[in-house]
Amino acid sequence: MTDIQRVLIDERRIAHRVSELAEEITREYAGDDLLVVGILKGAFVFMADLIRKIRTPVAIDFMAISSYAGKSSTGVVRILKDLDAAIEGRNVLIIEDIIDSGLTLSYLVKSLQSRKPKSIRIAVLLDKPEKRQTDIQVDYIGFVIPDEFVVGYGLDYDGQYRSLPYVGILGDN
Ligand code: IMP
Ligand code: MG
Repeated sequence: MTDIQRVLIDERRIAHRVSELAEEITREYAGDDLLVVGILKGAFVFMADLIRKIRTPVAIDFMAISSYAGKSSTGVVRILKDLDAAIEGRNVLIIEDIIDSGLTLSYLVKSLQSRKPKSIRIAVLLDKPEKRQTDIQVDYIGFVIPDEFVVGYGLDYDGQYRSLPYVGILGDN
């Protein structure tokens, strides 16, 4: 815990915002098919909370991709685990923990687009717009944050800190 310099977004603010996003999603997909695709591992906490607040039936699936080593984007994206089922004709909502350069998500959207879904939208908990390298459109954003390296609520640094209930800024040492 001493590794955390500062709590950026506490549990209560996260819960409140997640409920607001879920309401929006409920409104926009009500009565429609909805397949929520979580990007492992970072999105699993956000996704678990979000889907329990969505008041329309959802199906879920997961993908695992690697795009990052340490604290900066490499732009190299690899699919480590693919979806279990086809998405042709389905409304896909991608859930990601954070968008930074946008390289990960634009690669992913392109790759999923070729499978002919009915629609693809993106929900992220956190948006760090400062280092964006693509003009990707994100449909649901939890919080816009400054260009700091954050951990907690699913986000990690070298595999650590995912279980923290808040989003915090990691110290330098
Ligand atoms: P992008 O391709 O640069 O948009 O990077 C997105 C991915 O980088 C996310 O899925 C995270 O795994 C990771 N990432 C970016 N910023 C942070 C951060 O501040 N903390 C933890 N992971 C991050
Ligand atoms: Mg990630």
